[in-house]
Amino acid sequence: MGDSGLKAPGTAGVSPAAMTDTRIVQAGGPLVGRIRVPGDKSLSHRAAMFAAIAEGPSRITGFLAGEDCLDTLRCLQALGVPIVGGGTEWDVDGVGLHGLREPEAILDVGNSGTSIRLLLGLLAGLDGFAVLTGDASIRRRPMGRVARPLRKMGMRIDGRAGGDLAPLAVRGGPVSAIAYESPVASAQVKSAVLLAALRSPELTTYREPALSRDHTERMLAAMGADLRRREDGAILLRGGRPLAARDVQVPGDLSSAAFWLVAGAIVPGSDLVVENVGLNPSRTGLLDVLLAMGADLAVEDARDAAGEPVGDVRVRHSALRATTVAGDLLTRSIDEIPILTLALACAAGTSEIRDAAELRVKESDRLAAVSRVLGALGARIEERPDGLIVTGPTDWRSGGVASGGDHRIAMTAAIAGRLVPDGVEIEDTACTETSYPGFWETTADSR
Ligand code: S3P
Repeated sequence: MGDSGLKAPGTAGVSPAAMTDTRIVQAGGPLVGRIRVPGDKSLSHRAAMFAAIAEGPSRITGFLAGEDCLDTLRCLQALGVPIVGGGTEWDVDGVGLHGLREPEAILDVGNSGTSIRLLLGLLAGLDGFAVLTGDASIRRRPMGRVARPLRKMGMRIDGRAGGDLAPLAVRGGPVSAIAYESPVASAQVKSAVLLAALRSPELTTYREPALSRDHTERMLAAMGADLRRREDGAILLRGGRPLAARDVQVPGDLSSAAFWLVAGAIVPGSDLVVENVGLNPSRTGLLDVLLAMGADLAVEDARDAAGEPVGDVRVRHSALRATTVAGDLLTRSIDEIPILTLALACAAGTSEIRDAAELRVKESDRLAAVSRVLGALGARIEERPDGLIVTGPTDWRSGGVASGGDHRIAMTAAIAGRLVPDGVEIEDTACTETSYPGFWETTADSR
């Protein structure tokens, strides 16, 4: 974290093993200083996709130049959207709600669930045919949850396993509004339906069992969509109106900051500030869980950027106690459960994670993966169908673990390595490029 001023005296370090993407992380001293993390993944995908179907040009800054979001840009370009730029800055020349062009080749989203599911909704406006696919993980993940409501709206979507698995073949065209009650609290399903609903001048009503992240609602409303949330939580959207192009400045990703916030909470002597982090309340379950565990955590300089709350988060090491993560809190920390499990393994007492069956269909089965990886390093974790029982504190021991190609599992193992006396060898680490380019350099620089 050299330039950013993070000083972490001690012996922490990462060495890439030659010719493989195996890395060794060794125990280290406290994390002290101020750092920034790359742009928010959810906001970067949305900023690009919504700009693509807006009227005219917009500029995105702070964009996450990770593989997932770059895959979104490549798919949009293949759909005929002029996009130029590089790294964290991109100019998108929106083609309007009806301007997408039939792609000549298969759209490949790589590892990105957000890309494939939101693009399905975006393709409602395509006058033509498209095929969407991704890597082995994507081709295992359920797509019926998105395809079902979109079919009801009039889209034709087919795929393997009766239309539930990618590759998916899609034919766009006129769509009708829908009154939909989703069985899952999923921002990806919600966003796909709302994107399709933009094409219909009738009223679409969408309800979900718990509030999933609401970036789509905020951003579409800021672009002039006729969208509001009713008191009972239902979202009402009347489409048929063009979207106004808006520049977007993407804040840092709380899901990436999470690794350093937990590291600061569990490594003795740490005092760390992660600057400019998105703090949308539908995403901040991690902070609430850490506070409930007795973490020394505070938000500084809370502000607003592009309709999203943003702030700096300071964490200092403290003793942690066990807690329960379930219900709304689980939904609000869905992507942070692997790294939160590490915090729970450091806390005194028995903690419980419940209502987390969704984690079994993420980039990997994250309940199984985090139990396997932290268990190999000495953590006492019992797997349940919809959660974990974690008993701490842990007497950490060194070992070799494999990420299974899941970026958040690889980064969780890396932070655990800071506590393990003789270090951890982590196999399959290149996957961190999907959401956190530069993660390993940050780790290495924090020596
Ligand atoms: C995301 C929504 C969540 C989350 C994913 C990003 C989004 O998935 O896990 O990493 O940007 O909409 P679900 O909506 O499927 O829960």
